[in-house]
Amino acid sequence: MNKIKACIFDLDGVIVDTAIYHFQAWRRLANQLGFDFTEHDNEQLKGVSRTRSLEIILELGGVTKTEAEQAELATLKNTWYVEMISKMRPDEILPGAKEFVTACREAGIKTALGSASKNSMMILDKVGMTQLFDAIIDGNKVTKAKPDPEVFLKGAEELEVEPAECVVFEDAIAGVEAAKAGGMKAVGIGAPDVLTKADLVLSGLDKMTVGMLEEL
Ligand code: G6P
Ligand code: MG
Repeated sequence: MNKIKACIFDLDGVIVDTAIYHFQAWRRLANQLGFDFTEHDNEQLKGVSRTRSLEIILELGGVTKTEAEQAELATLKNTWYVEMISKMRPDEILPGAKEFVTACREAGIKTALGSASKNSMMILDKVGMTQLFDAIIDGNKVTKAKPDPEVFLKGAEELEVEPAECVVFEDAIAGVEAAKAGGMKAVGIGAPDVLTKADLVLSGLDKMTVGMLEEL
C-alpha cells in the first residue's frame, strides 16, 4: 500500500457550509422566474457547476431560455451569492475542518483544495484558510466537471505526488466518483447510504484523524 502524502479537500460542504447561500440565491432566481425551488431540489446541485445548476433549475421550473439569457441569469445568481459570501466569517468553517487540515500539515502531509467553485479564493480568504493549502485548484482552473477527475489530478500534479498517494474529502456523489476515477482514496462527508462509493464515510472532519489516513 502507498503511503498517503497528500489530502485534497472539496470546499462547499466539507470546509464550509455554503450550500445554504447557493440555495438562497438560486431560489431567489427561481422565484423571479415565477416558480419555487425547494431545499429538496437543491440536493441535485451539490458539486455541480454553475452552468449545469441553472440548466437543472430551468428544467425543474419548465422554463426555456436562450444561451445568452442563461449566461445573464447565471451572472445574476452569482452576484447575489457573492453578496452573501462576502460577509462570511471564520466561525462558518465546519467543525473540525481547520483543525484537521492543520494536523495534516503538522504531520508533513501536503494539502490542496479541489473545488468546482469559481468563488473558492474569496471564501477561503473570508474564513482565513487560504494559507493552509499548498495548492488551490478551483473552478477557474478546470474545464471538466466532477465526476471527471481533472480537478483532483491537477491537485496531485501541483503537489507533486501520485494519485494513489492522495486522499480526497468530498460531500458530493460526483466528487467521490471523481476521486475514485482518478485512482485516489475517497472519504465521504455525509451519509453512508448516499456516498456509497467512498472508502469511508464520516459526518464531518471533526471525526477524522491523521492516523486514520493509513487505514483507508
Ligand atoms: C461547488 C458547489 C456547487 C456550485 C459549484 C460552482 O461544486 O457544490 O453547488 O454550483 O461549486 O460554484 P460557483 O461558486 O462557481 O458558482
Ligand atoms: Mg461539495
